[in-house]
Amino acid sequence: MKVPKVVITAAIPEAGISLLRANHIDVDLHDSPQSLQPDELIPKLHNADALISLLSDSITEHILSQAPELKIIANYAVGFNNIDLNAAQNRGIIVTNTPDVLTAATADLTWALIMSVSKRIVEADRFVRDGKFTGWQPQLFLGGDVSGKTLGIIGAGRIGRAVAQRAAGFDMKVLYFSPNRKPDWEQKTGVVFGSVDDVLKQSDYISLHCPITESTFHLLDAKRIALIKPGAYLINTARGAVVDEQAMIKALQSGQLAGAGLDVYEFEPKIPDILKEMTNVVLLPHIGSATTETRDEMARICAKNVIAVLNGNPPITPVF
Ligand code: GLV
Ligand code: GLV
Repeated sequence: MKVPKVVITAAIPEAGISLLRANHIDVDLHDSPQSLQPDELIPKLHNADALISLLSDSITEHILSQAPELKIIANYAVGFNNIDLNAAQNRGIIVTNTPDVLTAATADLTWALIMSVSKRIVEADRFVRDGKFTGWQPQLFLGGDVSGKTLGIIGAGRIGRAVAQRAAGFDMKVLYFSPNRKPDWEQKTGVVFGSVDDVLKQSDYISLHCPITESTFHLLDAKRIALIKPGAYLINTARGAVVDEQAMIKALQSGQLAGAGLDVYEFEPKIPDILKEMTNVVLLPHIGSATTETRDEMARICAKNVIAVLNGNPPITPVF
């Protein structure tokens, strides 16, 4: 019998790879932090039974049409907007993601951004390193309060709710928008539902936690951004294209937005130079799930999905 083969497009943690090997799966690992280009990936997929892909790998109909044996794509991410789901479904290919295990890490990073932008942590650190700290001053690096303010969550899935949960420790009022209202959650925690516009108008910190879909593309366009409460902060650990990046930049320049904490970008990994020049913006290289424990667990879940499907069992975390 043919030994089943999995292609892995970049070096994910060993925790997942060893699990695959222990289950007698032939691992074709591209052992590099940088993923394969499509013209390198396609020939590898000719006889592959499984693919473990990154969120930066665009898995198109063109690629899938040349992968006749493929049974499963295990995306090493919670988001799966990089995969042509229709093309996969039409070919009977299962798609899985890594939900739950990265919820806490991503919610924690969201909070790191809230604190960094409001307390001007990165800017102040640079000031110290530049040798500019000459003594305590009454008005040095004044930031914004977090405690007692209003946090607006757009997208109340696992991550959005975990971010809201952490806000209780800061005595914040939490407003949220979600396409599916969650009365039980409201009752249990005191969070308040509103429209996207309400959340933008009333929140001091706006944090995005929706997936990117046709209905969330540029959910924050110029018109909506104009509704944001003057002096609010915008945090994005979801997907860049939820926000019209140019409109956001204008709001940062005008001062309508006091600052932004960004882990994702509309044209990732491209980041507009003008953002890099702004001192009221904290820019991260898409590290929401980047803790050792979480990434190990993501690798294990990818491996477990591949093992299940190649053994004829249902996947553990299918996306459809
Ligand atoms: C990260 O952005 C993910 O989707 O896992
Ligand atoms: C993703 O895991 C979400 O539901 O927010």
